Parts: sequence; C-alpha cells; structure tokens
Amino acid sequence: MAAAHTCTSVLDLVRAVVVVSRVGEARYVPVGLNLSAAVRRCSNCAVEHTGASGEALFVQTAVITDIHANIEALTVVLQDIETRGADEIVCLGDLVGYNANPNECVEEIRNRQIPCVMGNHDAVACGIEEPWGFNEVARHAAIWTRETLTEDNITFLRETPQNQRVENEFIGVHGSPQDRDMYLFSWAEVYAQFQYLDAFGAKSCFFGHTHFPGIYNEEGLCSGDEKGRFALNNGNRYFINPGSVGQPRDNNPRAAYLLYDTDALIVRFIRLEYDISKASDKIMRSGLPKFLADRLVLGR
Ligand SMILES: [Fe+2]
Repeated sequence: MAAAHTCTSVLDLVRAVVVVSRVGEARYVPVGLNLSAAVRRCSNCAVEHTGASGEALFVQTAVITDIHANIEALTVVLQDIETRGADEIVCLGDLVGYNANPNECVEEIRNRQIPCVMGNHDAVACGIEEPWGFNEVARHAAIWTRETLTEDNITFLRETPQNQRVENEFIGVHGSPQDRDMYLFSWAEVYAQFQYLDAFGAKSCFFGHTHFPGIYNEEGLCSGDEKGRFALNNGNRYFINPGSVGQPRDNNPRAAYLLYDTDALIVRFIRLEYDISKASDKIMRSGLPKFLADRLVLGR
C-alpha cells in the first residue's frame, strides 16, 4: 500500500465533502473547491489513496447486485458504501427472490433513487415472466415473493430498464448484454459477449446473475491483489461481476459488492459480515424452503 503523499490535506478535504454528501444524490462540490481537479492531481501520485483511518478516498461509484430480498445484507452494504463516501450507486437487478424481505429491499432502493436494471427474479416477481425455467426452490420463492410484494413495489420492478449506463464507458446489465437471464460463468462465455458492447456504445460491462465475483478482459480471467483491488488498463475492455449482496455462492457467505474509482481506474471487491442467522431465521419463519436458509450460512 502506498503511503499518504503530499496531497493529504487536499484529499482529506475532498473526503469530508464526499462523506457528507448523500448517497444517490447529485455530487456535491462546495464553492471554491474543484473536486475533479483535486482528484485527478492526486491520481497521478499513487495507485492507492487512503486517509488517516485507511479507508479509500477516491471511491465514486458502488456497484451492487443480486440483493435477493436480504435486508440484513443490504443494510450493511449500504452503510459501508456511505461510510466510504461513494456518491453514486448502481444496482444490477434481482432485488427480490429467495430471502424474506422483498418489500423492505425494494423500498430501500426506491427511497434512495438508486438506478436499477431488471433481473430475472424481478421479472417473475412483477409478473412480466413466469418461473418456468426455475428449479423447485426458486419457483416456490418466486411465487411467495409475488404474493408478498405490494402493488407499488411491483410497479417499480415492472418499470426497471434492461440496462444502465455506469459512468462513461460501462454498461450495467443483469445477466449479459444479450440477455438478462444469460449466465456468464467462464471466460469463453464472457468473451462471446464483447461483440455486443458496441451496440450500447460501451467499452466495458458490469454484470451480475451468477453470484460469483470476477473480472475478465479479452485475454482471460484477471486476478486482483490480496485486498481485492484491480487496476484497470485503459487499453483493455472488461466484464466485471461484483458478486451477490444477498446470496453469495462462491463459498464465502459475506455480502459482496464493488467500488469503482473512476479517476484512478481501480475496482475493489468488498466483502462484509452481516447477521446471517437473522436473515436465515426469517426465511424459516416465512415458510420459505429451508435450503435457502442453509445456503446463506454456507455461501453457496
Ligand atoms: Fe440472482
């Protein structure tokens, strides 16, 4: 990790500004301080920018996906995003399905006016699709969710778009640019999707759906450092999956999301402990399948 450099006082001022701004609202820049200029100047100094307590200073965009009605996980993730001072959040879909708090999760996203895309579970929950391709457990949860959601929340899900622009160069989708229900598990599957980015005028893509965090370029699967950070190369194109907030499946039960520093061009995969037993107890009390409670504990 790079040591704090000579721009620290400017950075601390920038941080103070970002932290007091409300997540989801327009970026707040006080009179007399050009935030972009300050950030760019320091981006030339070091790859990692940290304050006195070690947190990242240049976080700008948080990407979350696959919340799946897990309000315990979502609450912890949103608190962490706010603490780190991100000023934008984008959600890549599947707000609902599997866990026991679909209304609470949709309302949290709605109240914060977080831009979302429609996930395959959202599409079934709001009645646009039927759960024909779902396994028995997922179908049970989908029907329970549809019966539990309020009319207002169903309307919100029904109106979510198929994609969202993320900063200048990324398109945000649920499954793939081609299809919200397409799984991209391997590099070969990802590679076949690069050709579709031009149609969106996008260079790279954030996606969800698999519940596996990962980052790919046109040459293969990339790996970050031991802190989950990866520096993007401006000459490359990427597909990046943050992992799932509410139902991780990579043998790590902690809630997942990512931060994208648009100035330093660094993505950082974040994992957070949350109250899994509370979330799994709610699943059992709601009459949802026990398998869904067990998999939260296992993270798969
Ligand atoms: Fe999902």
